[in-house]
Amino acid sequence: MPETVVTNDDLSRIMDTSDEWISSRTGIRERRLVKDETTASMSIKASIRAMENAGVTADEIDLIIVATVTGDHVTPSTACEIQAAIGADKAVAFDINAACSGFLFALHIADAYLKIGTYKTALILGAETLSRIMDWSDRSTCVLFGDGAGAAIVRADQTGLLAYDQGSDGARGMVLACPNRSNNNPLVKNPTDMKFVNMDGQEVYKFAVTTVPSSINKVLAEAGLTTEDIDYFALHQANIRIIQAVAKRLKVSEDKFPTSLDHCGNISAASVPILLDEMNQKGLLKPGMKIVLSGFGGGLTWGSAVIEW
Ligand code: ACO
Repeated sequence: MPETVVTNDDLSRIMDTSDEWISSRTGIRERRLVKDETTASMSIKASIRAMENAGVTADEIDLIIVATVTGDHVTPSTACEIQAAIGADKAVAFDINAACSGFLFALHIADAYLKIGTYKTALILGAETLSRIMDWSDRSTCVLFGDGAGAAIVRADQTGLLAYDQGSDGARGMVLACPNRSNNNPLVKNPTDMKFVNMDGQEVYKFAVTTVPSSINKVLAEAGLTTEDIDYFALHQANIRIIQAVAKRLKVSEDKFPTSLDHCGNISAASVPILLDEMNQKGLLKPGMKIVLSGFGGGLTWGSAVIEW
């Protein structure tokens, strides 16, 4: 994550908001925002730490997938920048865009490649510099998001992914949108001027609290498990109220839903891997534990998985 911590009180000094409004509605108290860091620089650091944790060297990595909506360039991709920086010369590298579900989508893509035997060792990331696509005059969106990157190593010889589910609903895409790609072609009469994230918060809330429990129930059924078999539910960190509502609908104690949003805010594709890393660093994860991961957001998209640690 970036060095610079920005608290709700810091925000209240530059816009008409308050710690009370933000924390009571979202659970967010602070987030980190980039000053000198970039999506690539955070991703490279996260990749190196993931390789160290997994005991994997760059020459073993043959696939790099970065889930991001905020790569530093249209091209080269963030994945190619990581490849060059870590010296993973034989890896194939590319980015995907599935917004807040991105890490789950990257995991599923890596799993498919590994299962058919094309590659053996993948480096997957969720990485975002969301502060670059916020409208800093729109207090209803900019207070929600943060910047950061999370990485994981996935290997063909480890059978940790027990089941997964993913889906998309493009018809509802504009409830959480960021056009941000104006066309300078002289034939285009009215290039879009909507450059920043625009969200219908209540529609996103309704989408999340219905789709996420149903997706989690699907992966549990596919894995032949019930909620009681699951040690932790590591959800995309959008909003504490969404997490509480999902826990209630699944009839699972909120204690099984670890959170990082109080100090991270919503980091889209990066939120699930950063949460998993925090759980790992705190010593919460023991071999054999079963964990549900779930991401949901822009597209609209959603993805869930059951993994065995
Ligand atoms: N500070 C102070 N007041 C604010 C702020 C702010 N930062 N933002 C909005 N307000 C005001 C509004 O102007 C409005 O004032 P008004 O009544 O005088 O017009 C009032 O607060 C209520 O605004 P709403 O937008 O109706 O607020 P709501 O109660 O719906 O809460 C929220 C907004 C927290 C975003 C809610 O809709 C929500 O939880 N949505 C879920 C979506 C979400 O979490 N999205 C995250 C990104 S998407 C994803 O990752 C999946």
